[in-house]
Amino acid sequence: MKRFEQPILVTRPYLPPLDDFKRGLEEVWSNRWLTNNGPMLKRFQTALAAYVGMPETNIALFSNGTLALELGFYALGLSGGEVITTPFTFVATSHALKRIGAVPVFADVDPETLCLSPAAAERMITPRTRAIVPVHVYGHPCDVEGFARLGEKHGVKIVYDAAHAFGETLGGRSIAAYGDMSMFSFHPTKLFHSCEGGMLAFRDAALQEKLFNLRNFAIRGELECVDVGTNAKMNELQALMGLECLKAMDSILASRAAIHAAYCEAFAGCDAVRFLDPRGFAGDRKFAPNFAYCPALFRDFETRERVYAALKEKCNVFTRRYFYPLLTDFAPYVYGKGSCPVAEDAARRVLTLPTYFDLAPADAARIAGNVLEMIRS
Ligand SMILES: Cc1ncc(COP(=O)(O)O)c(C=O)c1O
Repeated sequence: MKRFEQPILVTRPYLPPLDDFKRGLEEVWSNRWLTNNGPMLKRFQTALAAYVGMPETNIALFSNGTLALELGFYALGLSGGEVITTPFTFVATSHALKRIGAVPVFADVDPETLCLSPAAAERMITPRTRAIVPVHVYGHPCDVEGFARLGEKHGVKIVYDAAHAFGETLGGRSIAAYGDMSMFSFHPTKLFHSCEGGMLAFRDAALQEKLFNLRNFAIRGELECVDVGTNAKMNELQALMGLECLKAMDSILASRAAIHAAYCEAFAGCDAVRFLDPRGFAGDRKFAPNFAYCPALFRDFETRERVYAALKEKCNVFTRRYFYPLLTDFAPYVYGKGSCPVAEDAARRVLTLPTYFDLAPADAARIAGNVLEMIRS
């Protein structure tokens, strides 16, 4: 079994060349403008709109993805309503709903993609339902046509938590183009980041002014405050980091693809581990994955726990049981416990393996080799 001399972490942030970042810093210094809709933020917004192929009027940037979600949900009028969502996600998805006074209602996930199932979501619709919030979990594409049909049939909003899905295209367009709204997280654990940050992409351009207001306390000019806003502004240094990382997107995506391919090859034909390959998850639609995560499903909880501990202790490899515990195991959401058996089962068997920009595919293959040795022993 291979023990790595240096710890291999589940993820590490991409960092742009320091000299390029320093040049940007010089510009910030000469602007003497650090936050509040500065020139870097505007440049980042223009660059992102071009990257995702949306008009600039249909995106907004925030200090982080959680506040982006919270303000997006609020701007869509979801407060006081029920919202159907998945428990197989990071807590922020439901926290953002709760914090604006909406009630998360949990529905089960699809056993292949681990994304919210439209059929399971439809079963939970009531007259109080205002929206469905599916998550493109690990960057796996949700059944966007299925959710579009539900949105139309039941008159509910479809808001994607696309925190993991930046850089993907589906059916020839950016994944940002689906649903009424999508949120992308730019946290450094994501393949693309701005130190911290988040973006909303939305269908209705009229939302932009509302969101710009909400992220700045909802104060308008010097004399007016029009709503209960908050401070969710992205600052100039975040925008600069985002701009520099955006330049590297092609190589970031290529490195992720190579690492994913190395794991796929190593696990091929092994019945005891199901390594998830998103290329098969989009049906007939053309799909360009970002390989944001490398999740593997083990045959049972005990094997997953054994592999997780042994990788750490024997190999110096740090994986994550992402998403375990499941949301419905946590105190604020325990009312949903027992209602989503597929998600509950996946949470007990899943392990996300290391992947990041400069992880060598050969090291991914060695990690997979260690895993295979462990489950055979
Ligand atoms: C699925 C999901 N939703 C929301 C978030 C929150 O994003 P952020 O960390 O940018 O606030 C995360 C990130 O960690 C996430 O994984």
